[in-house]
Amino acid sequence: MKNETKKTRYITEEELSVQRGYTEQIAAWNAVHREETGISRKYYIQTFGCQQNEADSERLAGMAAEMGYESAETPADADLILINTCAVREHAEERALSITGQFKHLKEKNPDLVIGICGCMVSQETRKERIKKSYPYVSVLFGTSMLYRLPEILYTYLNGKKRLFYLDAGDAGNIAEGVPVRRGDKKQAWVSIMYGCNNFCSYCIVPYVRGRERSRTPEAILDEIRCLIAEGYREFTLLGQNVNSYGRDLTGGMDFPDLLAAVCALDRDFRVHFMTSHPKDATEKLMDVMAANPKAAKHFHLPLQSGSDRVLAAMNRRYTVSHYLGILDDMRKKMPDITVTTDIIVGFPGETEEEFAETLAAVERARYDQIFTFIYSPRTGTPAAEMEQLPEEVKQNRMARLLETQNRIMLEKNRACIGKTYSILVEGQSRGDKTMYAGRTEGGKLVHFPADEGLTLTGKVVNVKITDAETYNLWGEVLGE
Ligand code: SAH
Ligand code: SF4
Ligand code: F3S
Repeated sequence: MKNETKKTRYITEEELSVQRGYTEQIAAWNAVHREETGISRKYYIQTFGCQQNEADSERLAGMAAEMGYESAETPADADLILINTCAVREHAEERALSITGQFKHLKEKNPDLVIGICGCMVSQETRKERIKKSYPYVSVLFGTSMLYRLPEILYTYLNGKKRLFYLDAGDAGNIAEGVPVRRGDKKQAWVSIMYGCNNFCSYCIVPYVRGRERSRTPEAILDEIRCLIAEGYREFTLLGQNVNSYGRDLTGGMDFPDLLAAVCALDRDFRVHFMTSHPKDATEKLMDVMAANPKAAKHFHLPLQSGSDRVLAAMNRRYTVSHYLGILDDMRKKMPDITVTTDIIVGFPGETEEEFAETLAAVERARYDQIFTFIYSPRTGTPAAEMEQLPEEVKQNRMARLLETQNRIMLEKNRACIGKTYSILVEGQSRGDKTMYAGRTEGGKLVHFPADEGLTLTGKVVNVKITDAETYNLWGEVLGE
């Protein structure tokens, strides 16, 4: 049943210790191999999709490291390749399958290579069947809620060398605490606060492949962040498909604004971001907590999807454009400098020219700092895939017009930053120009600035006065830390 609320299954300490047993066994094999050959076995992880998948890949890396694998620079150096897939649009699936295809020759060269595919794509029956048939060199497939069982999956495969398929039915949701993590960044950390989605927007595959909404306990989340702070992390992103419904499945009565306030109340200076918010659940209380807490980044990612009430209803989004714009007005009243970003889908089935014009009008009115635009991609099994589809040229043409509108607004908004000073978390040297450093404002705007040679600013927060602006980049000068 679609909207049935299931009790979250917490993976028990016993289950985790079983996995630790497999981990030790594989680590022992890998140690013997290292002693005999002088070479360590290595893992390589290829990640597609959203931050949730990035966070999952950091857990895959953590488990691989505990099993005695080192990180490989390239797939060609690896003994274990994991492809963590996304199913949100056809393009993401095609890229994952094409990369998988490219790994075939590696398996031919090294028959001991283990290739695993996991993530959202494999939780769909049709994709699973296709990989089973057409990619025989793929050793194991496992769904998102099987992730914590990687040691067992690998052990079983290495013992029997038979292909394995550990697939959840999508709604077999669970929460596994205490899985080792190897983070990709030393300053910025993803922190999942919940998994799954209950919203069933009519275009979206996520609820089918990620299962029902389930929240981690506030204690587990706060403990994780406390540890990260002690390790030196200063930037956190709380992750969930709809963070605004955090805690509805818990009994403690803590909602998302309460959780955000509790995170901000932890010691030390840091910034907290969160994503994503669903407009139907964005509350006044959330805005008040953001406004009152300097540690809460003044950035709000609020997906609009469409500027037409008829299309929004067909998408099953459960808000109107005027309700949505009202949230933005309230936000900006409380936090005038807040950065607002959004997601928009063009070419949803049945979207008329007038309805698309309403999206352009909403974008003009909302004046976003950035939008993530997507051409509608039919997903098998979702209601919208059954509706009458628009021709490809219409979708492409609308996409181009939306980008044109947004680029003009972004340039205007960026030019208005000239003369203002922002605190910037320095990410490192600018990509194109090594004499420059680059960092981001709280709202994620990319700022470049010259810095004296040898200045080790990376990871620090500096004040930068903006001197020049383009559509996607700002330039400035450092005023000090
Ligand atoms: N939970 C988040 C979104 C996750 S998916 C939320 O509700 O905001 C990220 C974005 O991908 C969505 O906001 C949507 O704009 C886009 N998207 C999802 N399904 C899509 C599809 N079938 N075709 C095109 N874009 C899609
Ligand atoms: Fe998909 Fe909607 Fe859930 Fe976001 S809220 S993940 S768009 S179903
Ligand atoms: Fe893709 Fe799964 Fe995220 S479908 S967008 S990786 S939740």
